[in-house]
Amino acid sequence: MKVLEVKEINKSFNKKKILENISLQVNEGEIVSIIGESGVGKSTFLRCINGLEKIDSGEVIINNNLVKNRISKHINLDIGLVFQEYNLFPQYSVLENVTLTLIKVMKIKKEEANRIAKDLLTNMNLAERVNAYPFELSGGEKQRVAIARTLATNPKIICFDEPTSALDPKLVEQIFKIIKELSNKGKAILIVTHDIKFADKISDRIIKFV
Ligand SMILES: Nc1ncnc2c1ncn2[C@@H]1O[C@H](COP(=O)(O)OP(=O)(O)OP(=O)(O)O)[C@@H](O)[C@H]1O
Ligand SMILES: [Mg+2]
Repeated sequence: MKVLEVKEINKSFNKKKILENISLQVNEGEIVSIIGESGVGKSTFLRCINGLEKIDSGEVIINNNLVKNRISKHINLDIGLVFQEYNLFPQYSVLENVTLTLIKVMKIKKEEANRIAKDLLTNMNLAERVNAYPFELSGGEKQRVAIARTLATNPKIICFDEPTSALDPKLVEQIFKIIKELSNKGKAILIVTHDIKFADKISDRIIKFV
């Protein structure tokens, strides 16, 4: 079943066209990778469909809901983005990074939010690190906290911006497994990457931005 449909979206910055009539569909359980040279607008595309950047025209349909130029006030919980630099909140512990949206946006009680977050962090092999702060974590640990944070709201579509760029081969294998598992659970996955080998190995489809 189709969970993400992007129809002819356009986006310019300072009159420079970055995205031109981009259309794309992703189904449940499907893994789609986007490749393309630096600067063609791959991260911009992820930001646009995640409502972090306005589109100039076109449509983004998430789980059958048309979303128009949402900017962060109207967070759509059906889609989530794992940022390349992870963007963890430095002033919050690992646990708080994961519970923040649950408590503030979804209005879930703290005890329940903590339970959800601890389950996810345990799945990510981070049970021992729940009280650590981002500066105390390795790159791979930060990435897994960022993934747990994105998964906390149970989105149907999960986007990854350059998930392998900062990782050694063992961790690439680990992120491969995590993404495959998510797709086996029915999540639609969108990956932006320069790592063609990784894209070839993990994706059902590869799209090239030019
Ligand atoms: N907020 C912004 N304001 C102005 N220009 C921007 C903004 N965000 C991105 N751009 C420009 O849009 C273009 C596309 O940027 P983007 O980050 O999407 O590229 P990318 O394909 O992800 O590149 P890379 O592979 O290097 O990550 C670049 O020229 C960038 O400078
Ligand atoms: Mg980018």
